[in-house]
Amino acid sequence: MSLPLISAPVQGVWVLRTPRSAYVLSLGGQDVPLAAHWGAPVDDEAAIALAKVPFDAPRGSWESHLDGREEYPSDSGMRFTEPALALRFPDDGRTVRWVFGTAEIDGGHLRLRYTEQTRPLRLTLHYRVGERHDVVERWAELRTDVPVEVVRADSAAWCLPPREGTRLSTLHGRWGADSRLERTALPDGTLRLGSRRTTTSPMHNPWFAVDDGAATETHGEVWSAALAWSGTWRADVQRLPNGRVVANLGAGHESPVARLRAGTTYEAPKSCGLWTDGGFGAASRAWHDYVRGAVLPHGEELRPVLYNSWEATGFRLDEANQMALAERAAALGCELFVMDDGWFGNRVSDNAGLGDWQPNTDRFPDGLGPLVKRVHELGMRFGIWVEPEMVNPDSDLYRAHPDWVYHSPGYPRDELRNQLVLDVGRPEVAAWMHGWLDRLLSEYDIAFVKWDMNRPVTDPGPYGDLLWSSRHALNLYAVLDRLRHDHPHVRFESCASGGGRVDLGILARTDQVWPSDNTDASDRLHIQEGFSQLYPSRAMTAWVTDAPNFLTGNRLPLRFRFHVAMAGVLGIGGDLPRWTLEDQTEAAALIAQYKRIRPIVQQGSLHRLRSPRTSPAPALAYLSADGTEAAVFQFLDGHRYGEPAPPARLPFLPPGTWQDADTGTGYASAFLAAHGLDAGLFRNHDSAVTHLRRVA
Ligand code: GLA
Repeated sequence: MSLPLISAPVQGVWVLRTPRSAYVLSLGGQDVPLAAHWGAPVDDEAAIALAKVPFDAPRGSWESHLDGREEYPSDSGMRFTEPALALRFPDDGRTVRWVFGTAEIDGGHLRLRYTEQTRPLRLTLHYRVGERHDVVERWAELRTDVPVEVVRADSAAWCLPPREGTRLSTLHGRWGADSRLERTALPDGTLRLGSRRTTTSPMHNPWFAVDDGAATETHGEVWSAALAWSGTWRADVQRLPNGRVVANLGAGHESPVARLRAGTTYEAPKSCGLWTDGGFGAASRAWHDYVRGAVLPHGEELRPVLYNSWEATGFRLDEANQMALAERAAALGCELFVMDDGWFGNRVSDNAGLGDWQPNTDRFPDGLGPLVKRVHELGMRFGIWVEPEMVNPDSDLYRAHPDWVYHSPGYPRDELRNQLVLDVGRPEVAAWMHGWLDRLLSEYDIAFVKWDMNRPVTDPGPYGDLLWSSRHALNLYAVLDRLRHDHPHVRFESCASGGGRVDLGILARTDQVWPSDNTDASDRLHIQEGFSQLYPSRAMTAWVTDAPNFLTGNRLPLRFRFHVAMAGVLGIGGDLPRWTLEDQTEAAALIAQYKRIRPIVQQGSLHRLRSPRTSPAPALAYLSADGTEAAVFQFLDGHRYGEPAPPARLPFLPPGTWQDADTGTGYASAFLAAHGLDAGLFRNHDSAVTHLRRVA
């Protein structure tokens, strides 16, 4: 008989179970909730023993035995870590002491309910697990009957069990250089990751992983956590004097994160924690399962091969050139045609037009109808670019409603990319935004919306810090949720100058994301490796664009550019009328190959074989969900001397005979595990994608 998702084997001990892990917490002295175990599965007996492990004895009077063990530390009482919860009351008091009330177990959901000892305040700690993934979801909820300033209310403090070493993995970046993986020894003290840029930002992705310093792609324990939130955020990863590691993760960067009136509630966004054995590879596969199975609205759906016009026509688009692109795209095998920026208002450059969401009449004299119709005739779906949260001062919208943007009266309105941010929290602005999007999606048969967001808020106006912590993100979510509800066939892509809004919060209401404006295939190998730590290929749009690359100037072979993009949701972004006949023929064949391996790539499990960070011969593979097919990607990048690339070893293949689906060559799985698949690469930027099928 399988054990329940959550059990309480004795008073004050709770065991949360996922298919391959367990999380145990207990009620300590003075009702303090304590972390007892986060790791391999345990039965109730072991869980009880783990909950009884005594505190590390403080070595002197300057330490607290709670530090590094406490599930939700505040900033009052005998504790010295960064607080997950910090409150200020009108009498300047800050002390809280939480009295345990009840524990409610509802399937996979545990609620620990507390009341404050003297003030009319309630705190609920939420924990949730599911049968089909290994993630523990945690968040906190505060209900008050007195006014209170919430300086900090994190979603969770994640306490890690003591290990000999502590290494931190993060994803950092900037525009054009998103999701770069960094692994570094964690120093004593607090390492703060986060964003104070209104939105998630490419500077850090709200994710980190900790291991003992010895984990590899295939071996070792990895603890990781992510925040399901698209506003500003903060992670305080702390290595304490006692050697323990605790990481607080929550919304908001500066304080306060909320000012609550009596009778109101603050609910922190979900934080998701994952323990895995089996190295960074196993951690990523577990995250991918979770994102596809429990986060994305249609995670099981295969995404079409799309064409996007941005790099081809930029702001020079019109009906004729979009039709010409659509015709070429359809001939290559694209399934979705996405018209990017420049179709509306006076949007002939980034100086004007944002806010005026009517088709530009010079460019589309009869509206979008003829183009949409042509795209459909060509057998593709139609998609469109929008940037609804923004306005150019040079627009009819701004001239009519200059007060609709975030600003402080009397101060200059700082423009970035010549644009300002609309206060989507104002009911009339939200109504306007929803109204035109709703009309656009109702008037035209649109299957896909690329929702962009190209600058942060720099002046919060009257909302102060609260804007950064919640106002913008929550209102964005509300508009997206409503549009999805009313237009269930429309799919959305999240973009913020590339990967500036990639997180588990936005992925719950979008279908894929644009990971970076950098489309250089060599750089993309790195960006995609970082992205894949947490997010599945199913959500990763990847375009093949022109050579030389607009950003790096690199001239990479078409095949290499394709092979890199085929590791995600393939898209084409090149100026197709300029592609030679030879390029078009090769592209059509590669798109056809992609369609054959698409279910393996989008729904299979990823094995990173050689990292672009450490090898000039990066390689990765996907194994299909049923274990009968694999797609193996091999590249040479930064390679010298014409040395042949080492074969990619495939020890994860289920035993049997495997056959190259294109050439018919057969291999024993033992051979592929021991020797590997030799793709015969020896020139820099050679690449290969091999489709394997198990035949016996
Ligand atoms: C941002 C996006 C690009 C493109 C442009 C259009 O930079 O990341 O993909 O859509 O805006 O202005």
